[in-house]
Amino acid sequence: MTGITKAACIGGGVIGGGWIARFLLAGIDVNVFDPHPEASRIVGEVLANAEKAYAMLTGAPLPPRGRLTFCTTLEEAVAGADWIQESVPERLDLKRGVLTEIDAVARPDALIGSSTSGLLPTDLQRDMKHPERLFVAHPYNPVYLLPLVEIVGGEKTSTATIQTAMERLVPIGMKGVHIAKEIEAFVGDRLLEALWREALWLIHDDICTVETLDDVIRYSFGLRWAQMGLFQTYRIAGGEAGMRHFLAQFGPCLAWPWTKLTDVVDLDDALIEKIGRQSDEQAAGLSIRELERIRDENLVGILQALKGGHDGEGWGAGKLLKDFEQSLWAEAGRANTSFDPLKPLRLVETKVGPAWVDYNGHMTEHRYLQVFGDTSDALLRLIGVDLAYVEAGRSYYTVETHIRHLGEAKLGQAIHSTCQILSVDEKRLHVFHTLHDTVTGEALASAEHMLLHVDSKAGKATPAPAVILDKVKSIAEAHANLVSPEGVGRHVGQKR
Ligand SMILES: NC(=O)c1ccc[n+]([C@@H]2O[C@H](COP(=O)([O-])OP(=O)(O)OC[C@H]3O[C@@H](n4cnc5c(N)ncnc54)[C@H](O)[C@@H]3O)[C@@H](O)[C@H]2O)c1
Repeated sequence: MTGITKAACIGGGVIGGGWIARFLLAGIDVNVFDPHPEASRIVGEVLANAEKAYAMLTGAPLPPRGRLTFCTTLEEAVAGADWIQESVPERLDLKRGVLTEIDAVARPDALIGSSTSGLLPTDLQRDMKHPERLFVAHPYNPVYLLPLVEIVGGEKTSTATIQTAMERLVPIGMKGVHIAKEIEAFVGDRLLEALWREALWLIHDDICTVETLDDVIRYSFGLRWAQMGLFQTYRIAGGEAGMRHFLAQFGPCLAWPWTKLTDVVDLDDALIEKIGRQSDEQAAGLSIRELERIRDENLVGILQALKGGHDGEGWGAGKLLKDFEQSLWAEAGRANTSFDPLKPLRLVETKVGPAWVDYNGHMTEHRYLQVFGDTSDALLRLIGVDLAYVEAGRSYYTVETHIRHLGEAKLGQAIHSTCQILSVDEKRLHVFHTLHDTVTGEALASAEHMLLHVDSKAGKATPAPAVILDKVKSIAEAHANLVSPEGVGRHVGQKR
C-alpha cells in the first residue's frame, strides 16, 4: 500500500490547519497556500495543539515531523504533491474556481480531496479537465485526532480514485468510509443537521437552555455514540430479542409528534441573542483555546479507553489507534539508525505533557518507567528486535528494574533518554538508561534493567540468534570504553 509522500493544503483555517497537522505528524511534508495574512500563526497554533495531543495520545515512535512550507502561490504549493486537500470557505463558486486552478497545475497522478461539508462533488468537478481524480474527503474537527473521512465521488470520479484515496488514509491513522451515493451533506452532516434543527427548536421554545441540552447529550447517549454508534446501541436496547424487538417497540413512536421533523426554526435576532447569551454563560469564562485543550485531552482519554476495549483488542476508533501504533512500531523498526560509538545511545526525545504530571506538578512515577520502557524498545529495534521478530515468537523481556529519581521533570520540559549497554551474553542484556533535561543535560533519573531473550510461545528464556547478538555486541564493545555510569549496581536504600 503506498501512502501519501507529499501533501498540499489549499486553505489553512480550522480544517486546513487540522489536515496540515495530521500530515506533518505522520512524517509527510506539506506545502500550504492560504492568502490570509495570519495563516502561519493560525496553522502554528493548531499544530502546537496537535503536538500536545499526540504526546498524550501515544507512546509509539512517531516519525520525524514532515517539513512545513508556506507558499505564495497555489501553483507553487501544489507542485510535486500527490495528495492535495482543498479547505477553503464553503462557497460553490470559490471552491469550484480553486479546484479548477489546482487541476490545471497538479501532477497528473495527484489525488484532489475537498473538505466540503455538504457540496456535491459533481458540482465541484464541473469545470475540471481531469475530474476523475476529484472527490470529497470530509473530515471532522479536530482533524488530527478524529479519524473519520467521508469519501464521496461525483459522477465523473473514477473508482480507482476512491480506492486509492481510501488506502492512502490508512498510514496517517485515518478511516475512510465510502458513501455509496452523493447527497448534500453526506451522512455525518445529515445526521448532525437533523439534531441541530431539533436543538434549535428546544431552545427557541424555552424547553431547556443550551447547557441543559448539552448535558443531556454528554451524560448519556453521547457516551454511547462514541463507541457503538446508533444502530448497534439500539440493537442492545431491544433486549435479548435485539433489533427486531427494538423496531417493534419504538417504531410506532416515529408517527407520534416526538420531533419537529423538517420544520426549520427562524434564526432571528432574538434567538441568536438567546443562544449567544446562554452559550457565554455555559463557557463560564473559558476561552476557545482553553476549550480546545480540554476537548483534545478528553478525546485522547476516550480514544485510549477504546484502545483497551474488547478485552484489549481495541474497539472502534480505539482499534484504529491500536493498528496505527502497530504500523508506527513496524516503521520505526525499519529505520536505519547509526550511532556514535563514543557516547551512550540517545534514543527517546519527548516533552513532559499535561497528562504526565501529578498533583505536585512533576512527572508522575509511572511515566519514568514508560520513558525507560520506550528506551529499551528503541534499543531493541536498533538491534533488529522489531515487530516482525516479536510476531515470529521471540523477544526480550525485562526481568528486573531499578529506577533512581535524581531531579524533577516538570510540565512542558524537553527530556531525552540515553542508554549504555553494560554487558551482554547469549540470553542476558544488561543496560543502564539515563533520563536527561534536554536543555541543561542534567540527569533527572536513571534505570538499570536486566532483559532476557525469550521464546514467547514456549514462555522461557532462550539464546538470542547470532543476527541479533552480533548487532548488540558491536554496540556493547564500543560501550565498554565508556566510563561506567554513576549508580550502577545500587540497591534500594543504599547510602550515597
Ligand atoms: N469547521 C468545521 O468544523 C468543518 C468540518 C468539516 C469540514 N469543514 C469544511 O472545511 C472547509 C473550510 O472550513 P474552515 O472551518 O476551515 O474555514 P476557515 O474559515 O477556518 O478557513 C478557510 C481558510 O481558507 C482560506 N482561503 C480563502 N480563500 C482562499 C483561496 N482562494 N485559496 C486558499 N485559501 C483560501 C482562508 O484565508 C481561511 O484561512 C469548508 O468547506 C467547511 O465546510 C469544516
